Amino acid sequence: MKKVVIPVAGLGTRFLPATKAIPKEMITLVDQPLIQYVVQEAVNAGFTDIILVTHSSKQAIENHFDHNFELEVSLERKNKVALMEKLKAIIPPHINIISVRQPEPLGLGHAVLCAAPVIGEEHFAVILPDVILENQSSDLKQMVDAFTYTKQSQIMVEKVPENEVDKYGIADCDGATLEFGASTPMSGIVEKPTPQDAPSNLAVTGRYVLDNDILELLKTTPKGAGNEIQLTDAIARLIEIEGVQAYCLAGESFDCGDKLGYMKASVQFALNHPELGDDFTNWLKKLTTERT
Ligand code: G1P
Repeated sequence: MKKVVIPVAGLGTRFLPATKAIPKEMITLVDQPLIQYVVQEAVNAGFTDIILVTHSSKQAIENHFDHNFELEVSLERKNKVALMEKLKAIIPPHINIISVRQPEPLGLGHAVLCAAPVIGEEHFAVILPDVILENQSSDLKQMVDAFTYTKQSQIMVEKVPENEVDKYGIADCDGATLEFGASTPMSGIVEKPTPQDAPSNLAVTGRYVLDNDILELLKTTPKGAGNEIQLTDAIARLIEIEGVQAYCLAGESFDCGDKLGYMKASVQFALNHPELGDDFTNWLKKLTTERT
């Protein structure tokens, strides 16, 4: 499996005013834009074709993954080797970044369908770039391996507080106890249910490894929650036809489309940063001691 779809056409209204003139995916987490983390995660999982489903206001994302000839020549002239290496590391040479447009904001299911001509007949993954995983090198790869082994689509889930189920797609696993880093058959899935109607508190966490059959289903999926074409609704039909599994996230996830989630991710990634982590940890310890 080599293709991954990353929908980036959303306007980021939850993060205004920061996202008035820059794409939400270009907001920086410590020293890299958010989009770079998810592209890196896809590369770590073995994907080579990154399909961005984008919007006219999001050109900064494409520019980030393109060469900046003037900048490269200028750094080379000044012999700034380390910085040159950092630029090169943004995207390894064997990775293709492909853009397609989503002409209207008709929902996540519609965004995935916009990528169909590039996906062709292959199975593929979807990564929602608002969700940043702390561990960027194992979960997605494990989902791909589970798909290869079971031939069933894999949907990443994690538990959320019961009063927050109406923000997510919620999986029904018939009350099974999920093991971290393992997959369990799903018997249903519903987009943004009320807490009363939710089949569980297992929320879809923005990573999907999908059988190509989902594309045919998406073509006839009517508008659902929020009056949008929902990927969740097509997955509900895929469950009936060929079975789908819920993969339980082993590490931590951060919703970086939300201000508080983004702040938590900033602290966590700063603590783990290879160059800044120690100094930041000491500073944070001092600050928390002073404040308590
Ligand atoms: C989307 C999906 C939802 C999923 C969520 C994860 O919702 O439709 O099923 O749980 O992402 O972040 P959105 O956040 O775009 O409303």
